[in-house]
Amino acid sequence: MSSTAEAHLAAALREARGVVVLTGAGVSAESKIPTFRDAMSGLWKDFDPMKLATPEAFDADPAMVTKWYDWRRLGCLAAEPHPGHLALAALERRITSRGGAFTILTQNVDGLHQRAGVANVIELHGSIMRWRCIATGMECEPEPVAFETFPPRSPFHAGDNSMLRPSVVWFGEMLPERAIEAAADAMETCDLFLSVGTSSVVYPAAGYIDLAMRVGARTAEVNPEATPYSDRVTWSIRGKAGDVLPRVMDLL
Ligand code: OAD
Repeated sequence: MSSTAEAHLAAALREARGVVVLTGAGVSAESKIPTFRDAMSGLWKDFDPMKLATPEAFDADPAMVTKWYDWRRLGCLAAEPHPGHLALAALERRITSRGGAFTILTQNVDGLHQRAGVANVIELHGSIMRWRCIATGMECEPEPVAFETFPPRSPFHAGDNSMLRPSVVWFGEMLPERAIEAAADAMETCDLFLSVGTSSVVYPAAGYIDLAMRVGARTAEVNPEATPYSDRVTWSIRGKAGDVLPRVMDLL
């Protein structure tokens, strides 16, 4: 059953000229990819983030860090986009077919938006499907099977430090320059901003919600839980991405 907020969001989507969607791990939760901070299923419940997702952790134990990321990569490859991902792809087609702009700014590294058919995805935190040589910076997309050795050897460099790391943003690292530029371009024409499945506590990604408000866009949030932005967005919709987004699409 659609809520009033869903009906208002659908009405706003019908007339929006520039739609930007910020997504987080909650968007992939229904594809069975664990989130970071949900107590029950959160990835971190078994691991200490500071021991795995930092350059220092990689320098200290590249084998352990790359093993954990390869385990996550295989989990992402085994996952399938769910109706919420497909609804966002349908929304992009609807908006762009009438000359509007549509951009997904995702914090996720799982590639599920692209596999659902979304064309304009900006990966703010990189991609677990791409790995790069620590000596040359050159990137590759490894075969969809587990690495055999850890840390995996680099195909671009034969020296002692010939190893690959995942092309994801670690704590303390800068976001990819081209992602920041593309996100800034998208926000220039944004008149409707949708935040889906993010706890909105990690910056600079969460800052795009503030920017949307500053540029006068109407804002909506889809999340089963409250976030620090729930009381500030135009429409705060409590619910799962896989339930809410298809319902909103049905109202368009
Ligand atoms: P979190 O795990 O911090 O938050 C997941 C959010 O999704 C929570 O607010 C949940 O309430 C919500 N959620 C859970 N199930 C959902 C569902 N079915 N539908 C919609 N929402 C649901 O994940 P992120 O906000 O993505 O950064 O975390 C942001 C960043 O923190 C990650 O990109 C990662 C981590 O450090 C880096 O790795 C650089």
